[in-house]
Amino acid sequence: MAKENTAILSLGEGKQTIELPIMSGSEGPDVIDIRALYPQSGLFTYDPGFVSTASSKSAITFIDGDEGVLLYRGYPIEQLATRCDFMEVCYLLLNGELPDSTQKNQFVTTVKNHTMLHEQLVKFFGGFRRDAHPMAVMVGVVGALSAFYHEAMDIADAIHREESAFRLIAKLPTITAMAYKYNIGQPFIYPHNDLGYTENFLYMMFATPAEKYVPNPIIARAMDRILILHADHEQNASTSTVRLAGSSGANPFACISAGIACLWGPAHGGANEACLNMLEEIGDISRINEYINRAKDKNDPFRLMGFGHRVYKNFDPRANLMRETCHEVLNELGLHNDRLFKLALELEKIALEDDYFISKKLYPNVDFYSGIVQRALGIPTSMFTSVFAMARTVGWVAQWNEMISDPEQKIGRPRQLYIGTPRRDMPKS
Ligand SMILES: CC(C)(COP(=O)(O)OP(=O)(O)OC[C@H]1O[C@@H](n2cnc3c(N)ncnc32)[C@H](O)[C@@H]1OP(=O)(O)O)[C@@H](O)C(=O)NCCC(=O)NCCS
Repeated sequence: MAKENTAILSLGEGKQTIELPIMSGSEGPDVIDIRALYPQSGLFTYDPGFVSTASSKSAITFIDGDEGVLLYRGYPIEQLATRCDFMEVCYLLLNGELPDSTQKNQFVTTVKNHTMLHEQLVKFFGGFRRDAHPMAVMVGVVGALSAFYHEAMDIADAIHREESAFRLIAKLPTITAMAYKYNIGQPFIYPHNDLGYTENFLYMMFATPAEKYVPNPIIARAMDRILILHADHEQNASTSTVRLAGSSGANPFACISAGIACLWGPAHGGANEACLNMLEEIGDISRINEYINRAKDKNDPFRLMGFGHRVYKNFDPRANLMRETCHEVLNELGLHNDRLFKLALELEKIALEDDYFISKKLYPNVDFYSGIVQRALGIPTSMFTSVFAMARTVGWVAQWNEMISDPEQKIGRPRQLYIGTPRRDMPKS
């Protein structure tokens, strides 16, 4: 008789049965604990892309893709995006609770104490080609942080881990803005700690030594929302990369650099840039149908960028919030007649009415709108994914920290189904 909450696996026409415990979380599907499977049966499981496999326990973020739910530490993203700022969301993700006003002030002050880069690190930028993609620069410079904070750091020490989190959250806007300034040939603008986190980022991006720059509050609020919506997204590809890299005990700055590398791809964080490039390529409303037909053609690799999601199969709650911000920003900045914005709205309308997209549950995702918003804020297309990396850094660090402090943590080591040549001897010479 199977115990309650176990799964029975029958092998070899019932000659062997294996009982596997079923574990329940606080929300979401139960999971079958297969850790005993290999020792008892000599079998592995096969799950490319981890579509049915939970890689860890986590108490940070919860997603229900069918219902369009996203919670950070239990709070719905809709409430956080409308009632908190990014610093409060960072505190929440790292500590599990929202800060009171004293905790928030302390947190913000500590972040401000870490915004500058070591001058030797600033020299790294000069080693890149001017036309290097900002994400290539970010992978290199964030990875290089590990050379500055390695010897004195003990990842088993919670205080050291917290300090790394502060450094990363504080320095990412500086690094992101410098990647941009280097690319356009303007002097680096150093952080100004009188400004809030988001305003400071805009200041480092858009100020020049020649003129006074005052961040526009509409732009700052929209940017803050972009940061909140991208702050964490449970075990996605880049977060899993950070966890996997960190599972060997590697330096956290190097692990975050690995996460940035993974985020760069067009199927992940690169989608917002790819989406804007696609809108530019379509160019005119009259050509939308041609591209919709290409996206539906099995023999054409073209996909509608900004549509579809591995987890959200109903709607992406971040997309709804970003869509709202998109309309607000374009109206307030007087850009509602912008050519690409009108094109995007028409594409959204046509795709949402098309049977192919309806039947495959392909809806616009957050990247579809965030690219349009960033463009309206004056951020160039090539920088979109770097802004995403800056926002996601807090999620990566929170997840890395959770993994390192988990007593069940092991080095990540997937198995494989070998399909190569069986053992053979080399030809006799
Ligand atoms: C996000 C994404 C990688 C999710 O992929 P997934 O869950 O593995 O889903 P699949 O790639 O298996 O796609 C399922 C089906 O929908 C189709 N599909 C998925 N996204 C599509 C898109 N954007 N345009 C056209 N068709 C798409 C696939 O061709 C596939 O069709 P099939 O069942 O006939 O083979 C995928 O939807 C995509 O590439 N989207 C565009 C990139 C993007 O916006 N990424 C940002 C994610 S936040």
